[in-house]
Amino acid sequence: MFQEIFKTLPEAVGTAPGRVNLLGEHTDYSEGYVLPAPLPYSTTVEAAKAKGVVEAYSETLKELRARPIGQGPEGDFLDYLAGVLWALKQAGHPVDGARFYIKSTLPMGAGLSSSAALEVAALKALRSLYRLELDDKALALLAQKAEVEYVGVRCGVMDQMVAALGELGKALFLDTRTLEYALYPLPMGTKLLVLDPGIPRRLAEAGYNERRRECEEAARLLGVRALRDVADLCFVESLPEPLLKRARHVVSENQRVLLGVEALKRGDKEGFGRLMYLSHRSLSQDFEVSLPELDLLVEKAKEAGALGAKLTGAGFGGAVVALVLSAEETRFKEALTRLYPGLRVLG
Ligand code: GLA
Repeated sequence: MFQEIFKTLPEAVGTAPGRVNLLGEHTDYSEGYVLPAPLPYSTTVEAAKAKGVVEAYSETLKELRARPIGQGPEGDFLDYLAGVLWALKQAGHPVDGARFYIKSTLPMGAGLSSSAALEVAALKALRSLYRLELDDKALALLAQKAEVEYVGVRCGVMDQMVAALGELGKALFLDTRTLEYALYPLPMGTKLLVLDPGIPRRLAEAGYNERRRECEEAARLLGVRALRDVADLCFVESLPEPLLKRARHVVSENQRVLLGVEALKRGDKEGFGRLMYLSHRSLSQDFEVSLPELDLLVEKAKEAGALGAKLTGAGFGGAVVALVLSAEETRFKEALTRLYPGLRVLG
């Protein structure tokens, strides 16, 4: 409890969920479209004001960390909290220090955006603690700024936006260039399941940054601001490999998001599921961010009757998201856990 650790009562609280991404993987840093959905697993942060210091206790890690305000990152979980305070100060908001107590039902390191959930939950708590005039979109942008400029991870804006704006049971369509968004209910009678085989991430950060560089280079060679501006697949054919494959993924993935939105509007669960399988194939073969284990898990999910399945998040490890018929959920889970005794199924 907050009180046991800090000997005082919390003055504000914020909560934000983790996410899966249904379509639109590795498109946000090319100013494209994304379609994530929040999970029923979240992080809650209780907070109280403090003078000149940022302090946090993580219930999951059973660890208390503290550092003076204004100090740089140290590579620990406190970075996310020091980072959001730093971003608020940078944007001219009148904040000082704070103490935080973090509890979470969201697994860390499974590609479910636990860091964005922590940043957004902390910002929601700080918003009420310091009575800041910030809407949820502004909160998401501050969270992303904290992660990129303070923590030092070059992520896009998808995770923070869905942590701030997502609604359970709905997919969030987001245009990452204009930040226009809309919420669409998931197809009736379906269920999202996260299949986490517990594979450690392999070279994830280096791989992610390399893909970003490749997409930037492809856009430069095509003479556009970002791959978002390539309207048709035929335009990428002139690129040298591997840029051709990378651009083909991004351009086709943007199209899949738009088709996915149409499928959601029609309530077409089979059509939506097919787009998820196509997204996975493109992530594996063209964008090369999958692993053989994840490809096999997607294949097994298909055999077990999933409407759709794909890796979720940056790849190089992490989890698979599957869309299944609600009526099939129990049978599906049993079939998969028989094949993978160590598989963690969340949903
Ligand atoms: C990570 C990043 C996101 C996005 C995905 C890939 O989750 O934080 O911004 O780029 O990878 O779709």
